[in-house]
Amino acid sequence: MSTTISSIFDLESLAKKRLPEVIFDYVHGGAEQQITLQRNVRDLQALALRQHDMRDVSDPRLSTTMAGEPARIPLAIGPTGLAGLTWPNGECEEARAAAEFGVPYCLSTMSICSIEDVAQACEKPFWFQLYLMKKREVNEHLIRRARDAQCPALVLTLDLHVQGKRWADAKNGLSVPPKLTLHNMLDIGTHPGWLLSMARSRRRTFGNLEQEVQQAPSVTALSEWVESQFDPSFDLDTVKWVRRLWDRKLILKGIMHPDDARLAVDVGADAIIVSNHGGRQLDGAPSSISVLPAIADAVQDRIEVLFDGGIRTGSDIVKALGRGAHACLSGRACLYGLAAEGKEGVLCALNIFEQEMKDCMALVGIRDLCSIDRGVVTAQPAI
Ligand SMILES: Cc1cc2nc3c(=O)[nH]c(=O)nc-3n(C[C@H](O)[C@H](O)[C@H](O)COP(=O)(O)O)c2cc1C
Repeated sequence: MSTTISSIFDLESLAKKRLPEVIFDYVHGGAEQQITLQRNVRDLQALALRQHDMRDVSDPRLSTTMAGEPARIPLAIGPTGLAGLTWPNGECEEARAAAEFGVPYCLSTMSICSIEDVAQACEKPFWFQLYLMKKREVNEHLIRRARDAQCPALVLTLDLHVQGKRWADAKNGLSVPPKLTLHNMLDIGTHPGWLLSMARSRRRTFGNLEQEVQQAPSVTALSEWVESQFDPSFDLDTVKWVRRLWDRKLILKGIMHPDDARLAVDVGADAIIVSNHGGRQLDGAPSSISVLPAIADAVQDRIEVLFDGGIRTGSDIVKALGRGAHACLSGRACLYGLAAEGKEGVLCALNIFEQEMKDCMALVGIRDLCSIDRGVVTAQPAI
């Protein structure tokens, strides 16, 4: 990489430069007024870290497991739909970066590369994220495909009964592929690097779903079908139904209340992700970091508590662990890396997180993940 990259924010700037506005806005934005998106970032920033000196902090140990998978740092790459619109064969590149670095990767139902593409591109097993579709056979088939691809964990996303409204996407005519309005043609035409690179993409639409909808006569019809498929009747019985179909690790994503976390324990989930979908669904929801301690307290150690929403620095990961998370997932940060420089950009993001975590832990005065307890983080500076 030619530019000096010091932080995730540098990757964000590079992504903004390289991507057409319609794609960057899709990656970067949140629902409606983006209140929850901003809360995620600001509430993490607002937490203070307690500094302790006069301690030996050499040889920090950051490795752990997440839902049984080894993780070099307590971070997985979370599921992000349409990552393959930011970089050719983007999901395969992200999976390769995750495997090379040594953290879990989760493929979205709404990816451009299919489950089989990623399994072929990368030997290391990856997680598959499932959006429940109204048509039950589609869900059953996706689950079977994930099993055949040796995915060790299924991440069931709970918070998409309806799709959050992202105003910029509606204005920009975001669709798969983007609508060819005059504005978009100008936008895409002024980003020739992105346009030329995308010619190397193996696929142009939802890789996991195109074979599920054989009757879709065009890519646009497929997009419309996908939008019509989010299931508002998705309830606890649906989760139990998925639990019966999937006998490996089941991770429930989108838990924002202690009561729902207790239900996750009752249905036999292996882990939960405390998440508000990166502020892309219910605008006005609290930040995910603000609800994390109560959720962690509600389930104690009966289930693994994972966290996402607003992670932009290694110290954000330390703060989330200090608030009760076992480990975190990253959405936008790794996607900025992918959009900036493909696999190398994702590796760069992961290396930044690792170095920042090490620095943060050293200055806080700890060298083990298990020492990151509630005492490490405080809302107010306190002695
Ligand atoms: C562009 C984009 C696409 C996303 N697509 C999905 C998806 O397909 N499935 C899902 O469960 N979550 C999806 N998410 C939510 C992320 O998995 C994650 O919860 C969120 O990005 C975490 O917040 P962060 O971006 O601040 O790290 C998406 C997020 C972004 C930014």
